[in-house]
Amino acid sequence: MNKKRIFSGIQPSGNLHLGNYLGAIKNWVKLQDEYDSIFCVVDLHAITVPQDPERLRRQTLDVAKVYLASGIDPEKCSLFIQSHISEHAELAWMLNTIAKMQDLLKMSQFVDKAMKGFDGRRGVLKKKIEGQIINREVLFEEETEQYLIYKTGVGLFDYPVLMAADILLYDTELVPVGKDQVQHIELTRTLANRFNKKFGDTFVIPKPYTTEVGQNIMGLDDPTKKMSKSAASEYNYIALTDDKETVKRKIKKAVTDSGSEIIYSNDKPALKNLINIYSLLSDIPAKEIEKRYKGKGYADFKTDLADIVVSFIRPFQEKLKEYDDEKVLEILRAGAEKVRPLAKKKLDEVKKRIGFII
Ligand code: TYM
Repeated sequence: MNKKRIFSGIQPSGNLHLGNYLGAIKNWVKLQDEYDSIFCVVDLHAITVPQDPERLRRQTLDVAKVYLASGIDPEKCSLFIQSHISEHAELAWMLNTIAKMQDLLKMSQFVDKAMKGFDGRRGVLKKKIEGQIINREVLFEEETEQYLIYKTGVGLFDYPVLMAADILLYDTELVPVGKDQVQHIELTRTLANRFNKKFGDTFVIPKPYTTEVGQNIMGLDDPTKKMSKSAASEYNYIALTDDKETVKRKIKKAVTDSGSEIIYSNDKPALKNLINIYSLLSDIPAKEIEKRYKGKGYADFKTDLADIVVSFIRPFQEKLKEYDDEKVLEILRAGAEKVRPLAKKKLDEVKKRIGFII
């Protein structure tokens, strides 16, 4: 009994890809035996950017199917839809009252999303935000970086506070995520400590759980940017639903570095990323992969990598087909009923601490 708790979630806002699997879900599967595990489809987060209602419904179920097909076992874990537990939004509101604008303006993902499609100068942006955030005259005069920030939805800005609420509601100790989410977990820790200091010990202080190699899978078209659901080009990612031909085409087109040797090195970031994917899917260490391809070139390596990806993706896609919407919804509703008492208990405790009449 008394296993430590983990919590994590994914937004139903686009095609799930190898980065989501290798950075997050693969670890969830590994950890589910050892930890009391709660996994959520974070639909409230997804609406921080525009969503088509029908697509949102579809993708919410599809993300849950990916969890199940990856090996998340609903007998061992609780799986649910975030909006089914209203305590998430309620706690987020309360945490909003202790979060500071300055905490949230530091969140690079917000800045990235707000600036999407804008060829801005980030260094300048940060300075300007800190110096001029209340200077409206300048902000609305021209298409400046600040102007884009001011046009961004409040939900997108506030999104990390909702994530903090997700985590803190369940006395979570570890949060298995990719590197891009670590900053949000730091914020969660800050808010939890601030609340505990002000109102007395209420929240467990969580830690991120990442793996060295999988935490940051980069785009196949650009190894300086992470693989992303919302990338402009489909050559950035391998979607978990891509068919064999698409996988082969994307890997063939993946950018590589100068030279022709298969070397695992920071000086060859594109190749390093491909070797990481190869290694994570085959369980062969990078150094061993280097040895295997000694004297061979990129073409051989890429052909084998495509085969390895396909041999992961094919059985995965077969499993995906086993789940129909009704069955998945049943699992999600049962999961919500399992976690509801935990969420209610924590929120009641928070309300009492703040001074609400229960
Ligand atoms: P999201 O939906 O963007 O991504 C889901 C998970 O996939 C990881 N990930 C990656 N890992 C490695 N390489 C990549 N290229 C890559 N791209 C994505 C993410 O780090 C994440 O773990 N805010 C979160 C969802 C969330 C959440 C939470 C997570 C909401 N509440 C509470 C943990 C706990 C997000 O947008 O993830």
